[in-house]
Amino acid sequence: MTLWRDSYSIGVDAIDEQHRDLFSYAEKFLDAIEKGEDSGGYEAFIQIVEFLSKYIVYHFSEEEKYQESIGYAGLEEHRKLHRAFVAAVRSYERRLTSFQGDMHTLEELAGTLMVWLTYHVADADQKIVGRGKAEPAVSGSRMDVLSFRARCVLEKMTGINMDSLPEKRRIGRMQAGEIFVRVALTGEQKGAFLFAFSRDIALRLMRCVTGSPQRTEEMILAALAELSNVIAGLTAAQLTRSGFPCRITVPAILPGPPEENVEIAEFDLSPGYLSLGLTPVTS
Ligand SMILES: [Fe+2]
Repeated sequence: MTLWRDSYSIGVDAIDEQHRDLFSYAEKFLDAIEKGEDSGGYEAFIQIVEFLSKYIVYHFSEEEKYQESIGYAGLEEHRKLHRAFVAAVRSYERRLTSFQGDMHTLEELAGTLMVWLTYHVADADQKIVGRGKAEPAVSGSRMDVLSFRARCVLEKMTGINMDSLPEKRRIGRMQAGEIFVRVALTGEQKGAFLFAFSRDIALRLMRCVTGSPQRTEEMILAALAELSNVIAGLTAAQLTRSGFPCRITVPAILPGPPEENVEIAEFDLSPGYLSLGLTPVTS
């Protein structure tokens, strides 16, 4: 299995090599989870996670040094992405060491890691060297921005061509979908971004970022939560830049469809279904 794709290269040898290594360590982690207890017991998992975590910190610092050396204008924003991910990995590490034998947390970490890593290397890191699709400034409604970001991320992560896909807008309850995620806003503005995914989308995502759709429920839910986190984070950053300051909180998987009436954008991906929701904003 190899999840690395040549299109991830940024053309800077040292950084590309570290990215390839990161994917290969992450794949070892996935293999170990698949083998379960046969892979050397819980202690072996902890060692893999500790190694991965150290390597991530080392790589981020090397990559930031490179960005400094070329005077990359997006360094501060990029550094924030790195910091947020290191904080997330550390929080997983704490959970893993305080609840010995916790396979569910290992699976959640793997789902989060694979989505974060794939998105980061395939998109954020490409911008360091001016690669990737030019992003037009979307100056429409909040839903226009959310929909644009979701299309870009989904296309990058699942290979689904979202460019010319029609979407249906309406106000009401989000009913279709099998897995629901809420990302609440914090700070001056209150409200939330909502996501409804069908199983087909979840499996497609898992095949792209982990090499297999046959993953545990914990890994799938964590991957969808991270995908929502990426889309919501990019949307919030763009809204903030266009004078609508907002920050997001940690995504939450909902037990069922949200109860309130919201603004909705629906995509029929046949097979598969995605719907985006926006609650009214209050300050
Ligand atoms: Fe990076």
